[in-house]
Amino acid sequence: MTTTLDTKWNAGLYDDKHNFVFKFGEDVVQLLAPQQGERILDLGCGTGYLTNLIAQAGARVIGIDHSASMIGRAAAAYPDLDFRVLSATSFHFDTPFDAVFSNATLHWVLDKEQAIDNIYKALRPGGRFILEMGGKGNVEEIVVATRKVLTRHGYYSNAATQLWYFPSLGEYSTLLEKRGFRVRFASHFDRPTQLQDTDNGIKDWIKMFGNAFFKDIPDSAIEPVLDEIQEAVRPTNFRNHNWYGNYKRLRIEAIKQ
Ligand code: BEZ
Repeated sequence: MTTTLDTKWNAGLYDDKHNFVFKFGEDVVQLLAPQQGERILDLGCGTGYLTNLIAQAGARVIGIDHSASMIGRAAAAYPDLDFRVLSATSFHFDTPFDAVFSNATLHWVLDKEQAIDNIYKALRPGGRFILEMGGKGNVEEIVVATRKVLTRHGYYSNAATQLWYFPSLGEYSTLLEKRGFRVRFASHFDRPTQLQDTDNGIKDWIKMFGNAFFKDIPDSAIEPVLDEIQEAVRPTNFRNHNWYGNYKRLRIEAIKQ
């Protein structure tokens, strides 16, 4: 789950402070309902927590991720499972899967048609694609404030960085249907997500996930920009003594026709 902008993932920090990403994904595994002996691809497996849950259900699962550091950590944590460094836009397997599963990954993939084409080709006819990703409006206050503050400081090209793709339900369903999927279930829902650090939750979140916005900005200039962004979103993202990401999720089940 890395970007075309070469986000460098800190897999340890991801596990320690941002593990809500995969803890929330347990619901998505329930929608997948993996069966004994099924062959399943976990696309954007990160550090392997959900891959392991899928394996525990008796499925034969392969986890792929674009980030070598994530895959290194996954392989160390779950040495009996099959993990590979592969990206959503270029993977290929000869043997088809019964299901492709993807949690909190596809909003990083700007070439969405290519990813959907690869997923379609990886499935057997009748196979299912179960996904959850950021949908339209996801973490919007953080994105808007980041662009605004970077612009105010004169970092115009940083402010224009295209890091994520948060489609509407209609837009993503249409892309799936165009490629030959039947969308059997789709939902676009709010999931306010409490961030771990009560003082600097937004700054921490941006450092983990949005560092590409700060490419080539000197370290000494980054902290004041982050302070301003965090303060800008306080009215919408801080409540009951905690910071929140105002996540909006897109959850879909689609069948290869
Ligand atoms: C998400 O899961 O919605 C997300 C995570 C990190 C950055 C952007 C979105």
